[in-house]
Amino acid sequence: DRMLYKNMKMVTSRGVHKCDVEVDQGKIAQIKRIIPGKGINLKENYVIPSVVDLHVHARDFNQAHKETVRTCTKAALAGGITTIADMPNTDPPVITKEMFEKRKKLFEVNSLCDFVINFGVIDKLDEIKKVDPFFVKVYLEETTGRLLFKGNAKSLLKMKVPVAIHSYLDTTRKWCKLRRGILYVCHITSKSEIEFLQSQDVVREVTPHHLFLTRNTNPLYRVRPPLGTEEDRKALWENMDSIDVIASDHAPHTLEEKVGGAYGIAGIETMLPLLLNAFNNGMLSLQDIVLRLSENPCKLLNLLSNLEKGFFVGSDADFTVIDLKKQWKIKASEFNSKASYSPFDGLEIRGAVTKTILRGETVYEADT
Ligand code: NCD
Ligand code: ZN
Repeated sequence: DRMLYKNMKMVTSRGVHKCDVEVDQGKIAQIKRIIPGKGINLKENYVIPSVVDLHVHARDFNQAHKETVRTCTKAALAGGITTIADMPNTDPPVITKEMFEKRKKLFEVNSLCDFVINFGVIDKLDEIKKVDPFFVKVYLEETTGRLLFKGNAKSLLKMKVPVAIHSYLDTTRKWCKLRRGILYVCHITSKSEIEFLQSQDVVREVTPHHLFLTRNTNPLYRVRPPLGTEEDRKALWENMDSIDVIASDHAPHTLEEKVGGAYGIAGIETMLPLLLNAFNNGMLSLQDIVLRLSENPCKLLNLLSNLEKGFFVGSDADFTVIDLKKQWKIKASEFNSKASYSPFDGLEIRGAVTKTILRGETVYEADT
């Protein structure tokens, strides 16, 4: 089951490497400048290994009208993403062992990409011991779903399970102080938040919408946490060194629900293209992108969920082939996600995903 991928420009945080890669049963078996033999020619295109989205609301269950695991993961692949982390604020929520097992089954049957499942908690800490989630997600402010945390922060953090929080600054401060194990801070929004978190031993996540958009009364821009001011947005870019993970917080709703005030932006298909466009505009480097979309998330996946993601002999052969020069227009009506609208709709950008390879198999190819 051996396959050869030839002539790629692999991007890692150390630079760009021209190489051939041998794949055996979905795993990288060899990486060399030249490996003799016939194979798939990637024609000196740039390739990013194992692109991950650590913040995805795949919906399904009773909200299949918003999105399903199938449509969400199809959208992920079109966005160049090969692994996602699913969020537990579903209907019904993933807060019991029974629902966690159901969620895993649903993904095993329907997911087109690799995945890990997060677990929610309101107050029943004992339930956490019965499951093996990626992160325990804790909602500390109002948002979609009914998962506000009402338990005891100290008791939860004492369990030393990896915890991801959705919170605002004062609460984040408190949780940072009580932190014992890995604390992952979701969607950092403001100047004060990123400046405070700089010195904290936490994983810092930022979304593309907080990097590219500011406050706006248009309902399509309605999201938790709300978009910041231009000063906040600039502060995120100025503190790029402190951002560990960029994740989409893909939060699909129907257009009617959005117009009616639902929180969330569906950005899984536009995250990588928007960042490639930002690279073309000189806002960050390819190394900056690969670190936050691949290397840092992969470290967490490998550590907490026994996956083998990244670019090394033995890792899964996940490759996202990109075209840095391609100019195109974002067309939300063509999204694979059920959410076929976007604040970025109609935007002309440069940089696109041309092919997505998951464990050695081509799972997405753009029309040319
Ligand atoms: C998310 C959703 O709709 O599930 N909405 C959002 O505005 N980000 C929930 C969340 O992550 O807060
Ligand atoms: Zn979210």
